[in-house]
Amino acid sequence: MGLATGRTPLGVYTRLTELHKKGEMDFFEVVAFSLDEYLGLKEDHPHSFAYYMKKNLYRHINIKRENIFRLHGTPEDIDRHCQEYEEKIKSFGGIDIQILGIGKNGHIGFNEPSSSLSSRTRVKTLTQETIEANSRLFKDKNEVPRFCLTMGIGTIMEAKMIILLANGKEKSQAIAKSVEGPITASVPASILQLHPQAKIIIDLEAASLLKRKNYYQWVYENKGRVNDFLEKKK
Ligand code: GLP
Repeated sequence: MGLATGRTPLGVYTRLTELHKKGEMDFFEVVAFSLDEYLGLKEDHPHSFAYYMKKNLYRHINIKRENIFRLHGTPEDIDRHCQEYEEKIKSFGGIDIQILGIGKNGHIGFNEPSSSLSSRTRVKTLTQETIEANSRLFKDKNEVPRFCLTMGIGTIMEAKMIILLANGKEKSQAIAKSVEGPITASVPASILQLHPQAKIIIDLEAASLLKRKNYYQWVYENKGRVNDFLEKKK
């Protein structure tokens, strides 16, 4: 699995934890890769994504320590570290399910607008708006790291299935542009239109600017009815 951080996937991690506690989900053979990390923050820094994953998921489930992979905030050699991360993902046969959130500007992972649509894991400079958006957790805005490591868009697109989650009005524009706008590096999530198994799971507020909203609801209502339909025709 490829796992994202942020407020959005917290519900998923709580649900996975519940299922595990009830004995309905076993993580013993799961291998997890983190999507991104702030550069400069150590694993035990409360704002590092390593800390977030441990606090919100890993310590509650039976995943093996050696099956947890992450981008390090303080690598000795950034390029080598990113290259090795790519190789590690490949060594497990790639990512089966990638969970994503989305930034207000349409970023996925930390691939900010203008990122190459075929980029690989690398260092990125955050936009001012992402620094602003992510500053809510830091005491001082100046403490928000300016650099990060992130899986590239090309790396993310190789996952066999992608599930992007979004809630709330503040994500509605990014969702509308990603789902119904042109595929462009200016809206990184728009590349998901080219993925054969990308699912976008959103609430009504995040869906509010979608032009074909009624059609999507109609499709959803009819899901699973194809076989009944054919049956009646016989
Ligand atoms: C950060 C993360 C993204 C995440 C985004 C949205 O920038 N790098 O992976 O999707 O924030 O976060 P939130 O879900 O808190 O809105």
